[in-house]
Amino acid sequence: MESRLGLSVLFFLLFATASLAYSRNDALPDHDELDDNSIRHRYDDWLVRYNRTYSSGSERNKRYKIYKSNVLYIEYFNSLDLPFNLTDNGFADLTNKEFRKTYLGYRKRSKHHRRWSGQHEVNQTGCPVTSLPTSIDWRSKGAVSPVKDQGQCGSCWAFSAIAAVEGLTKIRTGKLLSLSEQEILDCDADRDNQGCNGGLMDKAFLFIKQNGGITTETNYPYQPRKAVCNKAKEKDHAASITGYRVVTRNNEHSLQVAVAAQPVSVAIDAGSLEFQLYSGGIFTGSCGRELNHGVAVVGYGGAGTGAYWIVKNSWGSSWGERGYMRMQKDIHDRRGLCGIAMQASYPVKA
Ligand SMILES: *[C@@H]1O[C@H](CO)[C@@H](O)[C@H](O)[C@H]1NC(C)=O
Ligand SMILES: *[C@@H]1O[C@H](CO)[C@@H](O)[C@H](O)[C@H]1NC(C)=O
Ligand SMILES: *[C@@H]1O[C@H](CO)[C@@H](O)[C@H](O)[C@H]1NC(C)=O
Repeated sequence: MESRLGLSVLFFLLFATASLAYSRNDALPDHDELDDNSIRHRYDDWLVRYNRTYSSGSERNKRYKIYKSNVLYIEYFNSLDLPFNLTDNGFADLTNKEFRKTYLGYRKRSKHHRRWSGQHEVNQTGCPVTSLPTSIDWRSKGAVSPVKDQGQCGSCWAFSAIAAVEGLTKIRTGKLLSLSEQEILDCDADRDNQGCNGGLMDKAFLFIKQNGGITTETNYPYQPRKAVCNKAKEKDHAASITGYRVVTRNNEHSLQVAVAAQPVSVAIDAGSLEFQLYSGGIFTGSCGRELNHGVAVVGYGGAGTGAYWIVKNSWGSSWGERGYMRMQKDIHDRRGLCGIAMQASYPVKA
């Protein structure tokens, strides 16, 4: 056994050395990608593309090392020929730990089971299946505003809630308005709203309901930080809701019923390196179920193992599929991929 193992290791080493020598002769373009010189060139292009500058040479060195390690992982990952790819997007000079600290922002519920049900819960599973469309894309129905960018602020929850309210408003009034995340960030005094340190979508709905409405993005524009509430703008109501509902948890079919009617806010675990560097295709993981990010489901499509949710993110349009991700739908785990079916909610208007 041992000698056979030793032999295969020897063969592997011989093979690896041979292919390395081969790639030095420029015969294998794929392997050139992993050469330090070409990664440095790629990094220079990347710095220009993302207009990135650093405070010092040592910071740049540190960032390059992280970038290089990410690029090596990206090249390896993409060679596996999975249903989705990775790319060196705007998060490519961040470690996964830095990324998780800066760009997420869905808060943990302390007593989540008790608080995530009750009066706002509706069971939609009784709806006849025949009335459910096999696919829907609220973007093509004009109910989704352009992709926004939360910047270095854990305000995803406000973007997620606003996307759902924008969708409902378009469906009810025929008008697509871009609404203000900043108003929620600044004016929602609920203790679950921690501004850039995270919040909850259902609390954002509650704020809009109790405030009597919400103003537009143009009137109360976004800046990636919590500021003092502008009381005059808070009184301006471009759109309103009368409440919200939560989707029966851990049931992707209930989520589909909800999304067939309007864009829906969902919480997911977006903490993985694959999520961070996602480029395109149907995301199949990896991810856990630790809900740490808020996004909006604006449609679904595909069938069988190719079924997916269309997810609107708030990391700008250079991330993913022009700001969107397609996430695998109808998986074996009832909680859904990355926990997408665990805490879904949507605004209503009587
Ligand atoms: C690039 O970044 C600098 C400094 O952060 C900023 O002043 C400039 O407007 C940016 N340019 C573009 C094209 O985004
Ligand atoms: C991933 O990238 C490879 C190489 O560019 C490409 O052939 C493949 O179609 C991509 N896969 C997806 C799912 O986009
Ligand atoms: C929804 O269904 C679950 C499980 O069948 C049940 O426990 C719950 O009481 C129902 N909720 C409502 C509001 O009907």
